[in-house]
Amino acid sequence: MRTLLPLLLIWFAYPAMAMQENDLGTEVQRAEGKEVYDIKCAHCHGYEGDANAVATSYLRPAPRDFTSGNYKFRSTESGELPTTEDIKRSIRLGMPYTSMPPWDGILSENEITGLAYYLKTFEPAFEGPYGNPTIVDIPKAPSYSDDPVHLARGREIFEANQCTDCHGINGRGNGPSAPELVDDWGFPIRPADMTKRWTFRASATREDVYRTFMTGLNGTPMPSYLQTINEEEDRWALVDYVWSLSRDEPDYGTVVSVRGQTGELELGDELFADATGTYFPIVGQIIEPGRAFYPGVNGIRVKGVYNESEIAIELQWHDMTAETEGRNHPDTDVPVFDATEPDTLTGGWSDAVAVLLPSRTPEGLERPYFMFGDSKFPMTIWYTDLATDSAVVLTGQGAGRITDNGVELERTAAYEDGVWTVRLKGSRTLGDYRMQESAFVPISFTAWDGFNAERGNKRGLSAWYHLYLEPMETESAALPMAKWFLIVLVAEVAIVGLVRFRARRRKKT
Ligand code: HEC
Ligand code: HEC
Repeated sequence: MRTLLPLLLIWFAYPAMAMQENDLGTEVQRAEGKEVYDIKCAHCHGYEGDANAVATSYLRPAPRDFTSGNYKFRSTESGELPTTEDIKRSIRLGMPYTSMPPWDGILSENEITGLAYYLKTFEPAFEGPYGNPTIVDIPKAPSYSDDPVHLARGREIFEANQCTDCHGINGRGNGPSAPELVDDWGFPIRPADMTKRWTFRASATREDVYRTFMTGLNGTPMPSYLQTINEEEDRWALVDYVWSLSRDEPDYGTVVSVRGQTGELELGDELFADATGTYFPIVGQIIEPGRAFYPGVNGIRVKGVYNESEIAIELQWHDMTAETEGRNHPDTDVPVFDATEPDTLTGGWSDAVAVLLPSRTPEGLERPYFMFGDSKFPMTIWYTDLATDSAVVLTGQGAGRITDNGVELERTAAYEDGVWTVRLKGSRTLGDYRMQESAFVPISFTAWDGFNAERGNKRGLSAWYHLYLEPMETESAALPMAKWFLIVLVAEVAIVGLVRFRARRRKKT
């Protein structure tokens, strides 16, 4: 009987198993999907769904090869195919900080459904037994808790499960294994920076984070922990710990408020301790040859302090590794984009950073051309190669037309746990332009990630923003004003009191 039982079970269950059909949509839906796909998706994902298209070699991560059946974002077990809903969700939301756009609101729900069914036709396995994947239960998230004991437990799990190997001890994407990671298509892949959860590909609610480490991301080194982190409480402690590492939004700014002070500006922690930092997005330079389609740096935090004659600027950005060997320069020759060039460090390129400023007073909204200026409006470039210990002032009249002014800037630079901190100090006078008090000074930034072989015009850059030199007097004027206000107030209260006292006495007598 004991041997018969399983057989009997199979006997009864078989019709049910056979009846559960794979969710492949109708012929009409797939045909509708193809129609949209060929117009909106094929130039990135390829007409045959194999990511063999015009745009693919320029994009990292590369557009998905749907014939591989490898889908990063699934509600299913590691190594399995996604559900139709998973695919629809990815189409709707897109993948932030990659070239995959969100289609929600652009395509109708019917079109998105048709597309999901059409994508399934590129991988025959969707039609077989693997087409019915095992769903991982993702419970509704309990409310977030920042209880220190709970978060400490989360950190413990983070460390015990070697998340730190890839994501780094403080989650900045700079773990010891990070530089060696590649995806299934052979391209280098960076572990997510947990301190910037807006860059997560599969959106970043707490349920999304839970799903990511439960299911893993197929096609990438990001493993599944379904079998290793077993307690529900531990799973949410880990989610909340990851959650606690990042603010909600990038909070990009447009102006750096620069405090004025009299006396020496001594480059160090103390100088910038009270300065407010402003965070700016960095994107790849893709307009002129040397294009950086996937820059290593995606944001920079900037602070400033000035005195009568000088200004000190602090630049901070996250970098997976510090490249302090090799060389770099804004003028370094870069070949026109070469799709066969390896993505990572090839010629010994070092990290570098630059602050770009106008070299004369701009008229109205006029700005130097962002490609290192031009002859009509040159730009002043405060530049430092982090393989050296110096910083210089350059004048740019366009890429390939950059000259050294022979002026050195004072500089400090340090790399610690995934963060570069570079401080530069120089004159407030740039050629015949002076950064005036109470004025807005146009400024932009460039960062080179040596690991990405960024050099010359292959670089990450920001748009034009502003420094605002706060008036120096405010601080010194505010104090005496407050003093006088207090004296007058005390005198007034005294007078009022005296008058009332006298009036009361008069009444009594
Ligand atoms: C400009 C290029 C581009 C276009 C256009 C584009 N994609 Fe993508 N797509 C990408 C890239 C790049 C990725 C990979 C992102 C990653 O791996 O993080 C991707 C990934 C995907 C994924 C992968 C989901 C997963 O779980 O791995 C799906 C599904 C997808 N795209 C569907 C579409 C559909 C459908 C369209 C058209 C409506 C489309 N894409 C248009 C670039 C593009
Ligand atoms: C072997 C390396 C490795 C380990 C170990 C690892 N990860 Fe990852 N993780 C990655 C990589 C690589 C990515 C980026 C995948 C991508 O961009 O497609 C990633 C991405 C993520 C993301 C972002 C997903 C998204 O939507 O973009 C989260 C969250 C995450 N990992 C959490 C964890 C947690 C929690 C652990 C430990 C329990 C862990 N990872 C362990 C390599 C790793």
